[in-house]
Amino acid sequence: MKKRQILWIYITFGISWIIITDFLVEKYVPIELAMTVQKTKGIFFIVLTGICIYYILKKIEELNCCKEQEDKLSTLINSMVDFVAFKDGQGRWVKANASCLKLFQLENIDYQGKKDCELAKYTDFYHKALMHCEKLDEEAWLNRDISRSEQTLPIPDGTKKYFETIKVPLFNEDGSRKGLVVIGRDITDRKLAEEQLRKKEKLSIVGELAASVGHEIKNPLTSIKGFVQILGKKNKEDEMYYDIMTKELERIDHIVGELLLLAKPQKLVFSTYDVKEIVADIVSLLQTQANMKEVTIHFQSQESLLIDCEKNLLKQLFINIIKNAIEACKENGNVTVNIEKGSEKNVLVTVEDDGCGIPKEFQKRLGEPFYSSKEKGTGLGLTVSHKIVQQHGGKINVKSEEDVGTQVKIHLPFKNSKSPS
Ligand SMILES: Nc1ncnc2c1ncn2[C@@H]1O[C@H](COP(=O)(O)OP(=O)(O)O)[C@@H](O)[C@H]1O
Ligand SMILES: [Mg+2]
Repeated sequence: MKKRQILWIYITFGISWIIITDFLVEKYVPIELAMTVQKTKGIFFIVLTGICIYYILKKIEELNCCKEQEDKLSTLINSMVDFVAFKDGQGRWVKANASCLKLFQLENIDYQGKKDCELAKYTDFYHKALMHCEKLDEEAWLNRDISRSEQTLPIPDGTKKYFETIKVPLFNEDGSRKGLVVIGRDITDRKLAEEQLRKKEKLSIVGELAASVGHEIKNPLTSIKGFVQILGKKNKEDEMYYDIMTKELERIDHIVGELLLLAKPQKLVFSTYDVKEIVADIVSLLQTQANMKEVTIHFQSQESLLIDCEKNLLKQLFINIIKNAIEACKENGNVTVNIEKGSEKNVLVTVEDDGCGIPKEFQKRLGEPFYSSKEKGTGLGLTVSHKIVQQHGGKINVKSEEDVGTQVKIHLPFKNSKSPS
């Protein structure tokens, strides 16, 4: 009830009380008793209003106490970095903490009393995620027990966050649904660290393997290749088979070469070169392969940009990246290679293609040794590329969308601004 309403009820009741009781006293009470009755009714009125005021004050105190407790609870859950949401038995949101509202972009929405599917209308980006949450909640209800699961949520900056979600369904005594507590902990860093560790382990195994076997294979391979070529020239009628053998040997040679690049340790000799010149060389080198696939390479570059680098490694890096782009393209596809000043400290080389793109589920495996979607791929090109960029104190990012294309951004520090790792 509103304060103003209570006031009006009190005033109306008070005036009516005075008018009616005065009228009754005047009419029915003998004159000698009138004074006493008037006093009694005055006292009665004061006692009655006194009792009412007492109960109102008590109620206010109780409400203040509840408010204080609610404030404490709100402060507590709002200070949590985990996201927390309470929902009622019908899935309507009762309370959510700041992290939760921020995560789902519901900060300025009156969310209370609304279900996930209703809230989904307020956010385009998390529409699907909220609809999916409703399904997961239902599973938690059916499970009738605390459930833990791992969920991924897309983030507007294009990345993903991993959450460990705990759902606690609460039931009334009669077994009906009372409420659902949902708590989500951001475990992205842990996940990425695990993934990195897995990659590192694999990489170090590959490194060791390469170091021990690589050199042993390389030398005999060179002599076999030489003899196959000589035999091919002698036996003209079998030349076709010798050609195939040479090609396959070259493939083995290529794989061993890439493995050796991964092997540690490597002595690097850095000199100053213009990135534009190195990339231009590679573009013309790969032009034949592009022409064969009818792929056009568009090469754009700003003024000369000097970096300290190991030229052959850098060539290898751009061969890997541009080759991947050409291989991803269909006929009449386009590969754009652009060199620009990325920032005060870095040169930015962007290689973009309008090819097949990389399916989302494979994107996190990029750079992992031996991961390849190609029949004759080695799955070492990107691993080697990551290592080369790292050796040059740079960064490499891959953005890709299936059936749209892939964009690889390579940041390399300018001459004298590098901190090699
Ligand atoms: N530009 C690209 N477009 C589409 N897929 C790509 C691209 N670059 C890399 N990939 C994917 O990454 C995988 C690994 O690449 P890489 O390490 O160079 O090995 P390989 O080329 O031998 O398969 C490829 O098999 C391919 O699936
Ligand atoms: Mg490749």
